Amino acid sequence: MPDAPQITINQLEQLLQAKQYPKILEITKPTTGQPAWQALFHALALAGSGLIESALQQTRALLQLDLSPLSSIDALRLMGLVLEQRGQPELARSWLEQAAGLDPSNAAVSAAITRCRPPKYLSLEVYSHSQQTSLLRYSPREASQYIYSIDIVGTCNLRCPSCPVGNTDLGQRPQGFMQLDLFKDILAKIIQESPDPEPQIWLFNWGEPLLHPQVAGFVQAINEHGLKSYLSSNLNVRKGIDSLIAAAPTDLKISLSGASKETYAQTHVRGKFDLVVENMHKIRRALDRHQSDTHVWVGQHIYQHNLNEISQMAELCRQLKFAHHPIPAFYQPLEALLEIAQEKDINAPVLDLLLEHPAKYIRRFQEHRDNRYDCELRFNQTVINYDGSVALCCSVYKPENQLGISFLGQNFSAIEKLKYQHSFCTSCYKYGLQYAPSRIHDVN
Ligand SMILES: C[S@@+](CC[C@H](N)C(=O)[O-])C[C@H]1O[C@@H](n2cnc3c(N)ncnc32)[C@H](O)[C@@H]1O
Ligand code: SF4
Ligand code: SF4
Repeated sequence: MPDAPQITINQLEQLLQAKQYPKILEITKPTTGQPAWQALFHALALAGSGLIESALQQTRALLQLDLSPLSSIDALRLMGLVLEQRGQPELARSWLEQAAGLDPSNAAVSAAITRCRPPKYLSLEVYSHSQQTSLLRYSPREASQYIYSIDIVGTCNLRCPSCPVGNTDLGQRPQGFMQLDLFKDILAKIIQESPDPEPQIWLFNWGEPLLHPQVAGFVQAINEHGLKSYLSSNLNVRKGIDSLIAAAPTDLKISLSGASKETYAQTHVRGKFDLVVENMHKIRRALDRHQSDTHVWVGQHIYQHNLNEISQMAELCRQLKFAHHPIPAFYQPLEALLEIAQEKDINAPVLDLLLEHPAKYIRRFQEHRDNRYDCELRFNQTVINYDGSVALCCSVYKPENQLGISFLGQNFSAIEKLKYQHSFCTSCYKYGLQYAPSRIHDVN
């Protein structure tokens, strides 16, 4: 008889919640005569580690066995929760719904099902003219609320080589600052017609919002309507920080790359790292002075040249009590990715600095695309340029991929119609670049 595992089911559940998958895999290593409940935890940890196909196969087999002291409801519930944790809400939902079918009284399962469903304000399916088929909606990944992304500044002081502002001919795109009065009219229309009664208002897309001398006024206008405001900044500014923090935006992301002058300037071209750090301290002091609960976080773009600077930035964030999220840097805009997908030659030295060349991740997207799904950048966002015109989505940059209309001049459904007819979405889907769930596959 093999030794009983030196851990209880409760302890394994706690490890599961804490995403300690390697530890669970070690503890529940398959042995002869292993109890089925222990093998179940092994499969759950495999799913958490990204080996989802194998995990589901094993769990389906285990559901035929005696899992006592656990039940099959526990197995369905736990697998649903792990799949949700792993960012697979569509799959998670089917396991959770089976668990709820057998035991409708579990509040945690009901709450997870709600999180995994498309939000109530979305229809479950849409007919897309550009794909000539009906597509399914799902729980959006970027935000659980509808997003209005409003570029209050249609230009930037930096020239990051991975961003179209740094790698595209700027003569093609109009540049300027949004008038506060225009913004207030836009907000009033949003309040009146937004599908979601509490949409998120993002004050950026391809510009630097802190360059706007009235940025605090934009936040105040959003606050007056009781909505949430989101900003993202390169923080290369000399004024406006105190008044912005006094206005209490909901969320402020600080975008940077390196944690030293040299690496930073390579990927945030024209940027001054010392000024960014000075402003980070300024933000901390302003937050304390105004007793503000704005959520401030650093999104550190990770390239090969700054991989060894993650811990340095994490330490600075710890000292300043900011959250820190290292994010693999990607290349934009979508028009350039489409060219890469079409195997056109793009001569951009920054591509060699990325952790993975876009040609490689595009191939992976294409292999696993699930064309049943709608693109979240279309169904859950509206993007408005500084002059009040509307973009097809947040990822496109070229003038021909704007919708050619003013936000104030058309109602919500007319704007949706134009999005769902756009030929650029046809090309985007053809090359598997849409922002939508993939088919499951084991990821090591
Ligand atoms: C184009 S920026 C505009 C806002 C502002 N200028 C900034 O940089 O934060 C919009 C978002 O894209 C993100 N971003 C820009 N370049 C990126 C890259 N190479 N990899 C990952 N995210 C990037 C930024 O962090 C920011 O949140
Ligand atoms: S990523 Fe932001 S800071 Fe960099 S060029 Fe683009 S808009 Fe400017
Ligand atoms: S399908 Fe492509 S172009 Fe169309 S909205 Fe989605 S990301 Fe943008």
